[in-house]
Amino acid sequence: MGNITPLTLFVLQSNTFSGLFDCRNVITLQRVSSTNEFLKEELSKSTPLPEGTVIMAVDQYAGRGQKGTVWQSEPGKNLTVSLLLMPSFLDPKDQFRLTVAISIALVQWLETLLQTPVRIKWPNDMYVGNQKIGGILIENILKGKVWKSAIIGIGINVNQTAFDPAIDPHTTSVKQILQKDFDLTELLTDLCVLIEQEYEGLKKAAYKSQFAFYTQHLYRLGESHPFLVDGVRVQGVLSGVTETGRLQVDFNGHIVDFDIKEIAFVV
Ligand code: BTN
Repeated sequence: MGNITPLTLFVLQSNTFSGLFDCRNVITLQRVSSTNEFLKEELSKSTPLPEGTVIMAVDQYAGRGQKGTVWQSEPGKNLTVSLLLMPSFLDPKDQFRLTVAISIALVQWLETLLQTPVRIKWPNDMYVGNQKIGGILIENILKGKVWKSAIIGIGINVNQTAFDPAIDPHTTSVKQILQKDFDLTELLTDLCVLIEQEYEGLKKAAYKSQFAFYTQHLYRLGESHPFLVDGVRVQGVLSGVTETGRLQVDFNGHIVDFDIKEIAFVV
């Protein structure tokens, strides 16, 4: 288990699900640096964990976000989970398809829970209005040209109500919106059902409709806003994403596409 301490690990009983994985194999860790790191270490061992294994942390003390950011979460308050998938049926050049499938599962789950529109701030932050409620960190393990596994890290603010504005001043949670606490395990079960549904859809080549759903739910789609490009503030209209996941912005009729490191939203 490497440097994961203290080690309180138990597997939840759960054999009532019908799908391929459906959160049947949830491992809850009382305290871990990062659930993504935990899965990565496990994958380097000789006996692999099965596809669909979910690592859920009660206290994740060194959570990571995209672009090297920190993901903070009060112990026991939020969903901090990582899911192991083995999308070897996809060509690694189609990695964005998995981002799309997971993102739209989260949107559907959150919209059902919150009964309010949820948007995807490209590439995969979950937004309610102008506030972030969660995010996804997908880490891929390739072997040659084969996509061996994907670690899907998901952080959703659920029962936490105070956030450090120095990390992100635009943060919200399920409790801040619905004014009540939620059982994290029950939420995770519902989320897993939707993730599995979209993952199975991806296997059955539902990519085009998933991509359309993703695009329709993009935060600020069709709106004119400032962006930071190479540190320079520029005004443009978010017009969509390419099939490989590059953000498309329209500057006075001229559409330019960007990688995640090349552009930032001004929120
Ligand atoms: C982001 O919004 O930048 C992505 C946040 C992802 C956070 C989750 S919490 C569970 C998993 N473990 C991590 O260290 N990060 C992800």
